[in-house]
Amino acid sequence: MANWKSHKTMAEAQTFIEQYDEKSTQTVIVCPPFPYLLPLKEAVAQKQIKLGAQDISNYPFGAYTGAVSADMLKGVAEYVIVGHSERRRYFQETNEVVANKARLALEAGMTPIVCLDKPYMNAQLAFFGVDECLRMIIAYEPVEAIGSGQPDTPEAADAVAAIIQQLTQSTIPVIYGGSVDEKNVASFVAQPHISGVLVGGASLEVNQWQALVQAAN
Ligand code: PGA
Repeated sequence: MANWKSHKTMAEAQTFIEQYDEKSTQTVIVCPPFPYLLPLKEAVAQKQIKLGAQDISNYPFGAYTGAVSADMLKGVAEYVIVGHSERRRYFQETNEVVANKARLALEAGMTPIVCLDKPYMNAQLAFFGVDECLRMIIAYEPVEAIGSGQPDTPEAADAVAAIIQQLTQSTIPVIYGGSVDEKNVASFVAQPHISGVLVGGASLEVNQWQALVQAAN
């Protein structure tokens, strides 16, 4: 799954999707900035790419200036990332806020991708019941691995994914994120408890992204 963060113009986003030409047997999800979701909807469907949002409001519809609520994305994005470490760091999001967002996403029929790191993993998961966990994806993203070129080892990431499944008492899909690229992706997805990857930097250039999807397949 690709997280474009605050990168790309509208034209660059459209060109990326036009140029993408990979038949993947795995689910491919692209998370562009909010304003590009709707304009990209048709084009991504033709390429068998699913759309995800990078965030949502922790409030429903209402007097919350500037906020994009989960209900507004119904029928536009199937997935939404919540609690990315950049949201926690730059926008002061707490475990409680992240849990609200995940719940609003579930109520709107979207699949939340809840991002976690070890220091707050237990505290964050404690907000959710087993039945909620079963409808989520968890992304294990060690903060020191994000954008650093220094990924966790696949074995260490797998051990954390196994703990997450124990804590949630389920075989919830756990994906790994943090400096994943076309060279190391296969070693992550080969792990028994890791179902996929969340990719930032290596998802921005279409040829590199295609090579990564191909390697994951
Ligand atoms: P990265 O980012 O692939 O650039 O390390 C991953 C993420 O922030 O989800």
